[in-house]
Amino acid sequence: MQEERPIIALDFATFEEVKDFLNHFPKAEMLYLKIGMELYYAHGPQVVSYVKSQGHSVFLDLKLHDIPNTVQATMAVLAKLGVDMTTVHAAGGLEMMAAARKGLGFGPKLMAVTQLTSTSEQQMQKEQLIQASLGESVQHYAQLTQQAGLDGVVCSAQEVGLIKEVTPEGFLCLTPGIRPQGVAIGDQKRVMTPAQARAIGSHFIVVGRPITQASDPLAAYEMIRAEWNA
Ligand code: C5P
Repeated sequence: MQEERPIIALDFATFEEVKDFLNHFPKAEMLYLKIGMELYYAHGPQVVSYVKSQGHSVFLDLKLHDIPNTVQATMAVLAKLGVDMTTVHAAGGLEMMAAARKGLGFGPKLMAVTQLTSTSEQQMQKEQLIQASLGESVQHYAQLTQQAGLDGVVCSAQEVGLIKEVTPEGFLCLTPGIRPQGVAIGDQKRVMTPAQARAIGSHFIVVGRPITQASDPLAAYEMIRAEWNA
């Protein structure tokens, strides 16, 4: 499967900004929206319910990482909110990820973060005492994620090939860091265009500022969606 809608990262601090942003889209346009920690910690389940009530899909990106029992109970709460996809840290381990799956159930997609893309190999080796290469660690976590019964991983587009080497067909890769040609890359270091992300076999793309900061968000969204589905 390849989700045809680019997931829009709703990186806003307030509920008002979210509503203003969504007003740029026709009511019938069913979007896939990423709600991250900032918005969720500020406005909680209210934002999720609002977005769901408008008919949109929700990727609630909370990256849970705690003891299995706590993660399982929390996932059960998120399932009740009706989220379509959420995340954990693979570093929480096999048992924690399996517990997350149990709590969430099999309806929503459950993805794991392997090594954060902000972590360098040197940092990982020094701070986490992992003596493997960054690529090997990402591959190891992807395999663990798959064994735990999750749907896939959040990864940089540069890692999709590595992940596909060690996981079965159908294991999903969700990639942020997407920029259409000619758009400011901002603080992202390594980016790919929607067409490149498709070519390497990414299943979901997450796009924030190229849409949220565009003078015409609808036009920007449609252009990115067209390139992603070409
Ligand atoms: O604005 P931009 O398109 O860079 O936003 C990308 C979104 O994906 C942000 O919400 C960012 O936090 C998230 N993200 C990322 N890189 C990762 C993981 C998440 O850019 N490795």
